[in-house]
Amino acid sequence: MCGIIAARVSDDATPFLLDGLERLEYRGYDSVGIAVRTASGKLETVRSVSRVGDLRALVAARADAAPASDARSGVGIGHTRWATDGAVREENAHPHADCSGRISIVHNGTIDNAHQLRATLERQGHVFRSDVDSEVIAHLVERALGVDPDLLLAVHIAVAQLEGSWAIVVLDARDGRMVAAADRSPLVVARSDRGDFVSSDVGAIAEWCETFVPLRDGDVVELGEAWSWSSEGVAVPVPFPTASPFAPSALELGDHPDHMAKEIGEQPEVVAALLDRVRRRTADGSTWVGLGLPPFDRLAVVACGTSLHAGQVIAGTLRTLGGVPTDIVVASEVDHVVLAPGTLVVAISQSGETADVLRALDRLDERHPVLALTNNVHSSLARRADAVLDCHAGPEVGVAATKTFTAQVLVGVTAVVSALVASGRLEASRAAALVDELAELPERMATAAAVAADRVPLLATTVRDAPGFLFLGRGPGLPYAAEGALKLEVLSYRWAEAYPAGELKHGPLALVDEGTPVVVVDHGDPRLQWAVAEVRARGGFVVTVGGEGTDLPALPRRTDAADLAWGRSTAPWGPIEAVVPLQMLARELALQLGCDVDKPRNLAKWVTVE
Ligand code: F6R
Repeated sequence: MCGIIAARVSDDATPFLLDGLERLEYRGYDSVGIAVRTASGKLETVRSVSRVGDLRALVAARADAAPASDARSGVGIGHTRWATDGAVREENAHPHADCSGRISIVHNGTIDNAHQLRATLERQGHVFRSDVDSEVIAHLVERALGVDPDLLLAVHIAVAQLEGSWAIVVLDARDGRMVAAADRSPLVVARSDRGDFVSSDVGAIAEWCETFVPLRDGDVVELGEAWSWSSEGVAVPVPFPTASPFAPSALELGDHPDHMAKEIGEQPEVVAALLDRVRRRTADGSTWVGLGLPPFDRLAVVACGTSLHAGQVIAGTLRTLGGVPTDIVVASEVDHVVLAPGTLVVAISQSGETADVLRALDRLDERHPVLALTNNVHSSLARRADAVLDCHAGPEVGVAATKTFTAQVLVGVTAVVSALVASGRLEASRAAALVDELAELPERMATAAAVAADRVPLLATTVRDAPGFLFLGRGPGLPYAAEGALKLEVLSYRWAEAYPAGELKHGPLALVDEGTPVVVVDHGDPRLQWAVAEVRARGGFVVTVGGEGTDLPALPRRTDAADLAWGRSTAPWGPIEAVVPLQMLARELALQLGCDVDKPRNLAKWVTVE
C-alpha cells in the first residue's frame, strides 16, 4: 500500500525523503509527494501524479526558484500513494495540510469514519482540498491544537477519534516537531548518526540505520532529542531497538535488468539455504528436518493471492502424506468459514501486513492456535501469531511475489513432514527419503530456468497477441497452474484463468479457439492427456510445463517452443520447480508487451487495506 518516510536530520531532509520514497515505491505508485519545513517555518510541499523520478525533477526546479534565505530544513515527510479512497490526482496526493498550512500529514491505511468526521469538521468551518479520507487527520490535529497548543497531545486527541487503520506522521511547520502514530498499519522509527527516521518499511532506511523500533498498535511517538513514547495513551519507555534484518546491498539491482529477474534467479539459492537450515543429520546418516508444529487434528491455511497458492501446496502435502483434513481459507472470505475444534491456523503472508489476513485472524475463534509463515518476522502478523516460521527469502522488491512463494512452500512442506513424523503419521525413513528428494530442488530449479531461458522468448512472441490464457493442472500440479495464471495476468494484463484439467470440458473449453494458449502443468498424471487432446482438437495452442518423457499425446508440435520440459516431479508437493518457467513466461510476455514487471499497474506489494 502507501509508503511513508520522514526524516529529522541536520542537513536538508529532501534527499533522504526522495531516496527513501524510491525504495518505498513498490508499496504504491499512483502519486508521490513531500513536505519539508523551511528556515522561515513554512512548509514547502511538492506533489505529483507520477513516479519519484519526476518528483525529483520538480523538487530541483523549486529549489532553483526559491530564495536562498528560505532554505529547506532537516525536517520533512514524504509519501508514495496507492489510491484507495479518492481518484489519482494531485490534490489527493499526500502530504495533506490543515486549513492554516501549519500541519502536514502523511497517512497509510483507511479511516472508516472519515465521512462523519469530515462532515462535522466542515460544519465547524474546516475547508477540505481533497477527496481522501486521510485529510481529516490534518484537520483533527488542527482542531485539537485550538484547544491545547501541544502537538503531541493534539495527535493523541486526533487518533482517539479515528476508526480504521493508520500509520501517520504529523509535522508542525511552526517548530518542526514531528509525531508518528500507528494502529493496524506498519511503521518503524529509527535513530542513526544521520538523524531520526520514520518509515513504513525498514528497507527504505536500512542504508542509514542499523537498528529500528517497530510501532505497535496504539503507539504514538514524538521524535526529537529524546523520543517520547506512549502506548494506548500511557507513557512507556522507548522499546529496545531491533537489528535491521538485511544488508542494504540486498536491495540493490546489481547487473540484473529488473528486480523480478533478480528474484526469480535467486530461487535455487534461497531453497539451498533454507534446506541447510532445516536439515539435520541423524546417527545413521539420513537427512532430517528440524522444524516443528504444535499438535493438531486439522489444518486451515489463511492467505491471499500467491501466498494462498503456497498454502494449497502445503495443505495438499499434509493431506497426501498424512491423510490430515485441511481447509483453505481465502482470508477476505473468512466470515463464511467455520473451523472444527483442533484446527491449527497457518496464516501465510510474505509481507506479514496483509490486512485481509490480519482481519481474518481477528474474526476467527481465538481458541485456534495461529502459526505465521512470513518473510517479515517483525510484522503485525508475526506479533499476532502464537508461533512464527521465518521464510528467510531475503528482501523481495518486485511487486509480484516470486522467491517468497518458493520459500513459503519449502518452509511449509518441511514443517508438515516434520509434524507428521512427530505425530506418528509418517515413517521416519519415508520422511528422510522425501527430504533427500527436496535436496535435489535447487538443481532442478536451475535446470528448469535454463530450459525456460532458452525457449520462453520465442514462446512469448508466439502467444503475445492472445487476449487470454488458460492454465490447467491436476491435484498437486493445480496450485502451480493457479500461480502461473496469476503471475501472467498481474504482469502482462492479459486474462488468465486456472482450472483443474478435468473441469475443462464442463465449461472453459468453450473459450478455446484456434491458437488459444493453454498452459498445462504436467506433474506426471497421465489423465492430463485428455485435456491436452481436447484443446488440440479445437486448435488450441498447448504449452506443457514440466514432464520430460511425458505421457501427453505426441501430436504434431505447432512450434518447438511449446514444451518447457526438464524431467518430471511426482513428489507430494508437486512440481515446485515448474514455478520458475511460469514466472519467466509471465515476465517475458510482460516485457514484450511493454509492461513494467517490477511495478504492475494498480497493485502494491503490501496490501494493508481490506
Ligand atoms: C501476486 C502477488 C499477490 C500477493 C498477495 C498476498 O503476484 O504477489 O497476490 O501474494 O497480495 O500478499 P502477502 O503474501 O504479503 O500476504
